[in-house]
Amino acid sequence: MDSFKLTNISSALTLRTAHKKGGRRLSHEDLDIIPNAEIVYDREKILWLGKKEELPPAYGPLPSIDCQNGMVTPEIVDCHTHLIFGGYRSEEHSMRLGGADYEEIAKKGGGILATMKATGELSSDELFALGMKRCERLHSYGVGTIEIKSGYGLSRDKEYEISHVIHRLKTALAPGIQIHNTFMAAHAVPPGFSSSRKYLREVVLPLLEEMAKEGILDSVDIFHERGYFDEEDVKLLFSKAKELGIPRRSHADEFGDNGGASLASSYGALSADHLLQSGPDGMEALARSETVATLLPGTGFFLGKKPAHAREFLDRGVCVAIGSDYNPGSCHFDNVLQIASMAAPLYGMNLAELWASITLNGARALGLKNQGAIEIGLAPRFSFFRTQNIHDISYFWGRNLAFEVGLGAGG
Ligand code: NIG
Ligand code: FE
Repeated sequence: MDSFKLTNISSALTLRTAHKKGGRRLSHEDLDIIPNAEIVYDREKILWLGKKEELPPAYGPLPSIDCQNGMVTPEIVDCHTHLIFGGYRSEEHSMRLGGADYEEIAKKGGGILATMKATGELSSDELFALGMKRCERLHSYGVGTIEIKSGYGLSRDKEYEISHVIHRLKTALAPGIQIHNTFMAAHAVPPGFSSSRKYLREVVLPLLEEMAKEGILDSVDIFHERGYFDEEDVKLLFSKAKELGIPRRSHADEFGDNGGASLASSYGALSADHLLQSGPDGMEALARSETVATLLPGTGFFLGKKPAHAREFLDRGVCVAIGSDYNPGSCHFDNVLQIASMAAPLYGMNLAELWASITLNGARALGLKNQGAIEIGLAPRFSFFRTQNIHDISYFWGRNLAFEVGLGAGG
């Protein structure tokens, strides 16, 4: 199998010890940085890493990829996006600046249902083209693994179509960009259904069953919030998903503490997301489980809400990730590295916690335990930055230091 060597690396952020600790209870030392590093890998895994002068002679002749004296980090993961959507909702943002709130706007016909209409007007090819453009933009920030949720179709046919658009993106972008396909038809109840249960039983569950057979889904998600889907809906969906072998995740405890985090962890969910209002029970349930707490600070900023109690999650030993939640309503912002850099001081996160939240723990939120650190045996997924020191990347949060490397002419 072809092997390669990354050379001319000013330093490599490895997160090797963070990986051994499962991404929990991290301190500054867990950054585990190697100066003047070289990294050897084949298409599947990392074979060697260390200081340049310690490179085993057998690897000397391998084709080299010049990292231009920049930094290498584990690949950045955005583990929560809704990037397949039509139209924008800028006027809602201005309405919120004028005092209206997210739930009020949704009741007046804005919110997810407004985007459902705009998305319905676009063909599958148009949604694919938008998806490509958006994924490439995220990639330009150094993001290499992207979770994408369906959820603006909200009918049997349009949800089916959107899940297939995501699958097309996944195929077209691999292996450079890795897509995780999440089915979220349970995003809102469309007009014409008298209850969330009716919509769930008539559309969501049968479609999940149908697409499970096609094998294109990586996980299922549900908006477990008042006015959207209740506990019983979550149980129905998660039981079905479990039976079909599809991993679960949920939007939980955002508007209020409804036990969403505990419920998700009791079904072995990959992640519970938002968690602005989770109380001690939810936090403890997450700490005792493998379910990742995905915090979405961009949404809190955009909606003007108080931040999640991140420090409390972290101190209880919860595995914490940060996602962008990129969508046209509650967070029209798509750079997860910038969001994490802005949120870290507010959350009281140290630098190892910041980096783990958008690499290692983001990957765990997607069930990808073979990536997220630079360590022998793990998948060779990296991000590259034009700087010589790790402090610069989150410090320059208004600028994009990411760049791409490739085999030179001789390689
Ligand atoms: O995570 N359930 C919420 N989904 C998005 C909001 C979607 C929208 O407002 O269009 C969220 O915040
Ligand atoms: Fe979301």
